[in-house]
Amino acid sequence: MTILETARLRLEPCAPEHLEGLHAMNRRPEVMRYIGAGAPETLEGTQRMIELVQRCWAHFGFSWWTFIDRASGRVAGAGAVQHLRPEPQRPADWAALRAWPLELGWRLHPDFWRLGLASEAAERMAGFAFEDLAAPELYAVRHPDNAASGRVMDRLGMQALGLQRWYGEMLAAHRVSRDAWQTRQEAREKARSAQ
Ligand SMILES: CC(C)(COP(=O)(O)OP(=O)(O)OC[C@H]1O[C@@H](n2cnc3c(N)ncnc32)[C@H](O)[C@@H]1OP(=O)(O)O)[C@@H](O)C(=O)NCCC(=O)NCCS
Repeated sequence: MTILETARLRLEPCAPEHLEGLHAMNRRPEVMRYIGAGAPETLEGTQRMIELVQRCWAHFGFSWWTFIDRASGRVAGAGAVQHLRPEPQRPADWAALRAWPLELGWRLHPDFWRLGLASEAAERMAGFAFEDLAAPELYAVRHPDNAASGRVMDRLGMQALGLQRWYGEMLAAHRVSRDAWQTRQEAREKARSAQ
């Protein structure tokens, strides 16, 4: 299982010791408003999610991370690299998921909103997907009204593809190819070294 770091966050594969912090986030209606059924998650739901995520890590070698705020040690959020799927439920045979592209996902506890942390974590997860997993492309999908998440997708250099059916819902889909990602990374490097 892979731990990732950014300037302000440590991304740890979701584990039972994160339950309290993840539940403090998932129980908030404003966090879940645009996710799935749009309802706050129960403690048992978050516990089941951690167990499922641990099985995904073992099966695929990637899944959800808990974002730990390095300064305070608090759980700031969570994010994922995972396979998209057209249906809400996972297929019985998980291997079938490999037919679908990878997507990034993210959510933060409201105490950590508007600090640029979602973008910071998303950049690192995208780097992992393109460099370590050699993904040819990455998607992100959101409820069409979720403007904040759309801004994170823009900041990653993703192109808006319009509405597509994923997870059984019509969602705004965004995509970036590995080539476009690499070109953007090189341009940033150049700009940095010219400073
Ligand atoms: C979506 C979410 C992760 C964004 O996190 P964040 O750390 O606040 O985002 P960032 O600070 O990286 O900001 C990215 C951009 O979105 C903007 N933004 C943040 N919150 C916003 C809001 N509520 N409405 C409009 N824009 C918003 C920021 O100003 C920033 O804009 P900029 O690129 O012009 O500077 C956070 O709002 C969240 O956890 N929401 C609930 C869970 C969720 O919806 N997850 C996504 C499911 S698809």
